[in-house]
Amino acid sequence: MAHKIIKSLLLLLVLLNLVSNCAHAAPQVPCFFIFGDSLADNGNNNNLVTAAKANYRPYGIDFPDGTTGRFTNGRTTVDMIGELLGFNQFIPPFATARGRDILVGVNYASGAAGIRDESGRQLGDRISLNEQLLNHAATINRLIQLLGTGKEATNYLNKCLFYVSLGSNDYLNNYFMPSYYTTSRIYTQDQYAKILIDQYSLQIRLLYLLGARKVALPGLGSIGSIPYSFSTLCRNNVSCVTNINNAVQPFNARLVSLVDELNRELTDARFIYLNTSGMSAGDPSMLGFRVIDTGCCPARSDGQCIQDSTPCQNRNEYVFWDAIHPTEAVNRFTASRSYNASLPSDAYPTDISHLVN
Ligand SMILES: *[C@@H]1O[C@H](CO)[C@@H](O)[C@H](O)[C@H]1NC(C)=O
Ligand SMILES: *[C@@H]1O[C@H](CO)[C@@H](O)[C@H](O)[C@H]1NC(C)=O
Ligand SMILES: *[C@@H]1O[C@H](CO)[C@@H](O)[C@H](O)[C@H]1NC(C)=O
Repeated sequence: MAHKIIKSLLLLLVLLNLVSNCAHAAPQVPCFFIFGDSLADNGNNNNLVTAAKANYRPYGIDFPDGTTGRFTNGRTTVDMIGELLGFNQFIPPFATARGRDILVGVNYASGAAGIRDESGRQLGDRISLNEQLLNHAATINRLIQLLGTGKEATNYLNKCLFYVSLGSNDYLNNYFMPSYYTTSRIYTQDQYAKILIDQYSLQIRLLYLLGARKVALPGLGSIGSIPYSFSTLCRNNVSCVTNINNAVQPFNARLVSLVDELNRELTDARFIYLNTSGMSAGDPSMLGFRVIDTGCCPARSDGQCIQDSTPCQNRNEYVFWDAIHPTEAVNRFTASRSYNASLPSDAYPTDISHLVN
């Protein structure tokens, strides 16, 4: 009899343990804050006056909630990094996060936004990195209300992951658009990379002063090689494509140096560089991608999908969803290698799984 009771108690314990493991496996960090552009935007631009928004079909065709404002067919890279961190919900966009929503973090990313305030201006409104930082200050005030004291809020923020990914629009929607912007007449490519990183450095240091202690900084991808650059910016001129890809290299090199400098100076924090361009080097067909030079949806002249157009069926075989943004299939691959590097060169000095643990 006693034997039977012990046996059923043991069984009960095992079941309880399993149930609690499934339902409440805590994420590896309490919160995840995202600063970025259209690669991470999850709806912040929906109510702005701009061409840079994606709250229409076929965007979101593979996303659980359908169209949300994400600039891809399914989940973004940060959505999938959130899943790998153990979050069982998506990090809410700043535009609609209310009340206790902000406890898991906030996504401030905005399509067309840049490190520089003016980048992306020709497309309409956008929330530049400087404004995203102001929005973060507003979040911190709300966090203080929720947690009780400034000290509690700071302790909380210290444990969170921060992901800051901008710069593409400072090239595509600024430097390489000389009819709208003067930067390419004022700065050489190397000077431009320097002034961008100098400004980025101040912005990231401000984030540190606001409590960030675990910070991931993705470099820029090969933005000359996206279909939009080839057809629109370069009018099918291959040396122009090479020129754009070369221009972002000093930006990435200086970002790596910045990571070293920040780790040296701010010793109670850790900063990592994610080697986005390195991850996409190599033969995409090895990963099952067959179409690398055109997007899956028919695109407008600005590179985004034509509203209500019919996209390709075999989306896992496409690198690009529209003429600018990668498919969910590529995002899954980027998220996985950012979280758990498969080559030592994927992340420097370490990957996200080591940054958070
Ligand atoms: C192609 O691009 C290169 C580099 O930007 C430029 O120097 C060259 O004049 C372009 N050629 C044509 C035919 O537009
Ligand atoms: C990024 O990846 C490329 C290609 O694998 C590699 O050559 C480069 O050294 C990497 N950069 C860093 C900072 O690790
Ligand atoms: C990380 O990736 C390696 C292979 O690259 C794999 O063996 C390992 O299980 C992965 N770890 C996690 C935590 O996903």
